[in-house]
Amino acid sequence: STKPKICYRPIRPSDLETLEHIHTKVFPVRYEATFFHDVVNGCDIVSWGVVDSNRPDGRCDELIGFVTARVVFAKESEIVDLLGYDSAKSDQTVVYILTLGVVDTYRKLGIASSLIKEVIKYASSIPTCRAVYLHVISYNKPAIFLYKKMSFKCIRRLQEFYLINGLHYDSYLFMYYLLPA
Ligand code: ACO
Repeated sequence: STKPKICYRPIRPSDLETLEHIHTKVFPVRYEATFFHDVVNGCDIVSWGVVDSNRPDGRCDELIGFVTARVVFAKESEIVDLLGYDSAKSDQTVVYILTLGVVDTYRKLGIASSLIKEVIKYASSIPTCRAVYLHVISYNKPAIFLYKKMSFKCIRRLQEFYLINGLHYDSYLFMYYLLPA
């Protein structure tokens, strides 16, 4: 059978080329080589990968999706003002999702939802963590629907946040509050 068998696994150095290829394909924004290097080597970035271990072409270990994120201090994040009175305390953190993507032939199967759940689970396991947040370009309807469905709240609209091929685009800041421990 060619029914996909979706598996989640860590991202590793051998994923470098595929990871870069998918980013270039699915995002309008370009990322530096150092970003991909940091993801596959886990340098200050946490990530989760997705493969289809039942792929008809046999490339069962090749990434078809990913999420990348970074743990940052709440007081150094742009959402410190939204977190309440003690968020400026030195040890408070938040998780910032950098990139989330699924290869187009594997979309609408719930993969991105599962990846977001992993990030929320991870963030919840960090006692100092208060929230998960991200930016999304204002015209990206599928992603906006996804974050709303996952109970993220749209907190603000940032004017001309992105510059792509000489044109400016706004972004939305979405945030998921974690309950205080
Ligand atoms: N149209 C409308 N809503 C959609 C669509 C769509 N095409 N795709 C997903 N959604 C919404 C729906 O609410 C859906 O729930 P439903 O199936 O119950 O209707 C919900 O998202 C969950 O869908 P998933 O199947 O979990 O999402 P999928 O695995 O297809 O991935 C993603 C969604 C990541 C946005 C994918 O379309 C993609 O990779 N797009 C290109 C890259 C991208 O835009 N990434 C996010 C940018 S923001 C960032 O990276 C921080």
